[in-house]
Amino acid sequence: MIKVEGLTKVYDSDIRAVNDISFTIPKGKIACIIGTSGCGKTTTLKMINRLIEPSEGKIWIDDKECHEMDAVHWRRRIGYVIQKAGLLPHLTVRENIELLAKIIKRPKRERLKRSNELLEMIDLDPSEFATRYPIELSGGQQQRVGIARALMEDPPVLLMDEPFGALDPITRNTMHEEVLHLNSKLGKTFVIVTHDMEEAFKLGDEILLMDKGEIVQKGSKEDFINHPKNDFVEAFVTQQLNRDNL
Ligand SMILES: Nc1ncnc2c1ncn2[C@@H]1O[C@H](COP(=O)(O)OP(=O)(O)OP(=O)(O)O)[C@@H](O)[C@H]1O
Ligand SMILES: [Mg+2]
Repeated sequence: MIKVEGLTKVYDSDIRAVNDISFTIPKGKIACIIGTSGCGKTTTLKMINRLIEPSEGKIWIDDKECHEMDAVHWRRRIGYVIQKAGLLPHLTVRENIELLAKIIKRPKRERLKRSNELLEMIDLDPSEFATRYPIELSGGQQQRVGIARALMEDPPVLLMDEPFGALDPITRNTMHEEVLHLNSKLGKTFVIVTHDMEEAFKLGDEILLMDKGEIVQKGSKEDFINHPKNDFVEAFVTQQLNRDNL
């Protein structure tokens, strides 16, 4: 379970990047955050992962409030897929995937077994890709390595910042199926940021539509289609439905 209450981030310049948002995602559910560029999606994920400190508000994962734990232990329960993959350029694909496992001194053989499993999962042959550097991969391949890295330590919570943006429709579909599998079989809780309402409708048990740092509407696909809260929400949904009918 992830619970956020009154979460706010004010930057020095007085920008309220995130302004008093609250939501709860039950264990084993997928929430999709969608909204226009600059509406505060990445800032929200970074606060949940404690990469940046909230100006106000509280965050719980299960029964623990974030300030009850040090940031390192807090982050160990969270896999974070950074927007644009964020791989370290001087490390190989395998070293990127195994980074956290190495820091916490997981034995080499275990690491190797797990990173091979993950490379297979993201459909990159370990014998070909494990020793490459990020610059030698396509954007979509880098994105998939970013997903594998987040899964390395098998965390119960996954935060993903536009993880499927650079993928072609077929690969994106495969990765969607993988997320749904991890979610239904292993009960992992996801927060996925997307620009794509179709993706949000497909994956999200709960959809959070943000604008200017605030949540405009939250609910299921049916709520959004049948009861859009205002013209802004309706425009998002209509645009999507029109695309579906093309
Ligand atoms: N370090 C910072 N200092 C000041 N303002 C910032 C900082 N980081 C982000 N912002 C501002 O906060 C707002 C929210 O940014 P954020 O990165 O959360 O947007 P986003 O919804 O993820 O957008 P995108 O869809 O383009 O990735 C933006 O107006 C951005 O310019
Ligand atoms: Mg962002």
